[in-house]
Amino acid sequence: MHDFKLKKNRLFCEDVDLEKVARDAGTPVFVYSRNALLDRFNEIKHAFKEIDPLICYSMKANSNLSICRLLVKAGAGLDIVSGGELFRAKKIKAASKKIVYASVGKTDEEIREAVKSGILFFNVESVAELHGINAIAKSLNKKQRVAIRVNPDVDVKTHHYITTAKKQNKFGIDIKTTNNIFLKLAKKLKNVDMCCIHIHIGSQIETVSPFVQAVKKSVALIDALNNKGACITHLNIGGGLGIVYKDEKPQTASQYAKAILPILKNKGLKLIMEPGRFIAGNAGVLLTKIIYVKDTQVKRFYIIDAAMNDLLRPSFYEAYHEIIPVKKTKGEKKKSADIVGAVCESGDFLAKQRRLPENLKQNDILAVMSAGAYGFSMSSNYNSRKRAAEVLVNGKKYQLIRKRESYGDLRRNEIVANV
Ligand code: LLP
Repeated sequence: MHDFKLKKNRLFCEDVDLEKVARDAGTPVFVYSRNALLDRFNEIKHAFKEIDPLICYSMKANSNLSICRLLVKAGAGLDIVSGGELFRAKKIKAASKKIVYASVGKTDEEIREAVKSGILFFNVESVAELHGINAIAKSLNKKQRVAIRVNPDVDVKTHHYITTAKKQNKFGIDIKTTNNIFLKLAKKLKNVDMCCIHIHIGSQIETVSPFVQAVKKSVALIDALNNKGACITHLNIGGGLGIVYKDEKPQTASQYAKAILPILKNKGLKLIMEPGRFIAGNAGVLLTKIIYVKDTQVKRFYIIDAAMNDLLRPSFYEAYHEIIPVKKTKGEKKKSADIVGAVCESGDFLAKQRRLPENLKQNDILAVMSAGAYGFSMSSNYNSRKRAAEVLVNGKKYQLIRKRESYGDLRRNEIVANV
């Protein structure tokens, strides 16, 4: 995380001292680096420059308006999964022609809104959905471009909750049905233009081989279908690029490009990509304060003011996030501890058995690293906890990009029944 570095034993984001942010904005607070976000986006753009792909940032990773706007201004399109994400995309005036929409369960209302907005592609996940989009496009007198999300049935080594491309998963359409769609159904459905194949094989994938396998399968499928009369001009290879949380050695953008580009050579396909974690993951940290140090007979707990409702990944996937104090003191002795939140669940932890300085105390600030993706976006109000604030750093300056919720926010839509 090159934009989060220790300078004179204090943790900085770009040129901003993170302890200062924590004291000013309060904790828990997510802090993002503008530079890191843009760097990661540009790494992909640069690696694939010879074919100029459309890079649709996957909003689900972090849909904060300022972050999406920053990336859109840098040239990104957006990968959305709901009417809510379309609403956000419109708020920042993202170009509809750079929006792709995946989800196994798009409602009629969501489809209508997206067709009206003129989005580039629906990534279609079932035959029923395809009929639905065709009917809605017809009622609006439009022809809508669609991609068929193919389930390429490749095995991916990642947490089983985030693999998507096995037959057993709910995502995508099998190859046999895809053939039927392009070669039979396409003629009947006059209000959809089926010109793209979409795949997304999973998330936090650290090696290129499953990507290569899936892209090869997709290109072979496109060739076969086009030979039989289909007109597929686009290939969307989804997201999934892994990042470093601990000691992983995931492929770089350029290694990824070097593996993928030869497969696409002379195919004349327009490439679309949907990276989320790769762009946002290492661009953010979660700052949290120690509320209590609790020594029991068997272990030490640092009880912090962030919890599973702020960062669900450790509880949900047993994911590893590095945790470091924002201030390092000299010659500190280390002690093993669990770092836990205040939520009433034993599964509420951000880390287990971590070696941390023994002299950490109440009110000290810790940084939970690599929390830029699937951090805030998966947060909740469980235990009636206010969701965290978010801050964006730009060089020496920083700005609040989301206020911490208030108690009023917690009950905003609630109606007290007179019973
Ligand atoms: N495209 C599609 C269709 C997706 O379903 C996803 C992620 C992406 C793109 C972006 O994937 P990425 O580049 O970020 O790997 N909450 C989990 C990750 C779930 C990913 C869901 N789909 C986590 O915290 O690890």
